[in-house]
Amino acid sequence: MKRRTLAAVVVALAVVAGWAGTRIPGAADQSPGVERARAHVEKTCAGCHPGPVLDTLVRQRLARKDGGTLEAFLAGHHVPDPQLRAEVVAHLEARLAGSSSGS
Ligand code: HEC
Repeated sequence: MKRRTLAAVVVALAVVAGWAGTRIPGAADQSPGVERARAHVEKTCAGCHPGPVLDTLVRQRLARKDGGTLEAFLAGHHVPDPQLRAEVVAHLEARLAGSSSGS
């Protein structure tokens, strides 16, 4: 239970850092949840949405704000587990924050 709580806090921090466009050095990168999320995205999502395609879809989804959040969408879209879903959302948002400077 304590580990889950810690993981949730780390994910929350990563999300906040992503929104602010800043980085918490080490904190997000070393979280086992981030590795799990990255692996899930590579294994599951990338099969249908390779690389930049997924970033574009996620960016559009975040920009629409038409009621459904990205997290609610993913509940019915290949990430049924709530803990993993929070990690995947944080990972996807961190990816966007990282890629926006490059392209
Ligand atoms: C079996 C194929 C498949 C897999 C696996 C898959 N998707 Fe999708 N996804 C689709 C299709 C089809 C659509 C709707 C058509 C489109 O927008 O390209 C879609 C749409 C989306 C959208 C846009 C939603 C919107 O309302 O704008 C996002 C974001 C998305 N997927 C993210 C993901 C993520 C993250 C994963 C991994 C957890 C994932 N997808 C796994 C097929 C898939």
